[in-house]
Amino acid sequence: MNSLNDKIRSLIADKGMITFAEFMNMALYEPGQGYYQKQNPFGHQGSFYTSVNASASFGRTLANAFADTATRLSLPAHFCEMGAGSGMLANDILTHLKNTKPDFYAELKYTIIEKSGYLIERQKELLKEHEGKINWTAFEDFGGFQGVFYSNELVDAFPVHRVIRIGEEVKELYVIEHEGGLTFYPEKLSTPKIQEYLDRINLKITDGQIVDLNLDMTGWVQALSSKIDKGIVFTIDYGYPAENIFASYRRDGTVTCYYKHSQNNDFFERVGDQDITAFVDFTSLQSYGHDAGLVPVSLTPQWLFLVQSGILSEIENAETDLQKASVKALIMPEGGFGTNFFVLIQGKNVTVPDDFPYRKGAKETLDILAKMNGF
Ligand SMILES: C[S@@+](CC[C@H](N)C(=O)[O-])C[C@H]1O[C@@H](n2cnc3c(N)ncnc32)[C@H](O)[C@@H]1O
Repeated sequence: MNSLNDKIRSLIADKGMITFAEFMNMALYEPGQGYYQKQNPFGHQGSFYTSVNASASFGRTLANAFADTATRLSLPAHFCEMGAGSGMLANDILTHLKNTKPDFYAELKYTIIEKSGYLIERQKELLKEHEGKINWTAFEDFGGFQGVFYSNELVDAFPVHRVIRIGEEVKELYVIEHEGGLTFYPEKLSTPKIQEYLDRINLKITDGQIVDLNLDMTGWVQALSSKIDKGIVFTIDYGYPAENIFASYRRDGTVTCYYKHSQNNDFFERVGDQDITAFVDFTSLQSYGHDAGLVPVSLTPQWLFLVQSGILSEIENAETDLQKASVKALIMPEGGFGTNFFVLIQGKNVTVPDDFPYRKGAKETLDILAKMNGF
């Protein structure tokens, strides 16, 4: 079998050049060879930690929030997780519900949508205890959903197009072969969708600035809306509103690589052995979703969402200092999970009541907590 590098080079030889999105898609998802298709990338032995690996408190807290949401909005007990990685989040959520809300667990159906065949096998192995409750489906076959849909760090793993302004012209950075190596090459935009994206957020790229645009995200959120009859969507990821992500001081875009827990921008090295990921533009995610019928409910920093969902009791109940510290890492600024991560909530054909706790601001949430604790 050809190595992944050979496959990419042969595609470039055929087409002359490929978009960075095509390159990233192959580097991450080429069957049997892409980064997510052949190894467990998560946790200590992998390239990076997600909130899921940081502490099981994350999954337990989300389980409470999702079950609470289903009850408050009278949604069927059906959860769908997209991009389930090692299956740890599903396991933490299901185990917690089994232990604490057995009636809800008994009713609950759990659907997983996962692109990596390798990871599906791992998920099946890890989730044996919940066999019968879970079904795996492809995004294309998913539809008519009623319930709670969520993802953690899915959208940051979608391939991005790299766009640069050179003088008066907006160009796309393609990948070409040059003097035996791969390198970037600016040429005209591969699709009108790029200019549409820029116009929608009224983004004026400054001369020499690179921006990374997640067109797959826009297609995904529009398709997702058509697949949901009645439900709520939680998208948890790292990123910011557009004005931050595309601010002129970010000259080189946000796409980056992780290899064994170190960050680098050597995009064309260790192809298939390192992660490639970019910040999520929550403004566009909300806007494209809204056009397709997903009504924005709130965009909340992860720390606040977890506090609203009761994570402070996880700190109180932690048995060791290490456990306490790992829960705190999810909400404190130093860990990164607390400040760089957001939770976008969107709804379709649901009425969100005024007392829905996950749309309140920080002050209101902290006032409610203080009152509950008698301060
Ligand atoms: C960064 S990992 C996050 C994994 C896990 N949610 C966590 O937080 O640890 C991204 C996950 O999304 C999956 N993924 C990426 N694109 C996908 C797609 N289009 N459909 C389904 N899964 C996808 C990857 O295979 C991987 O499991």
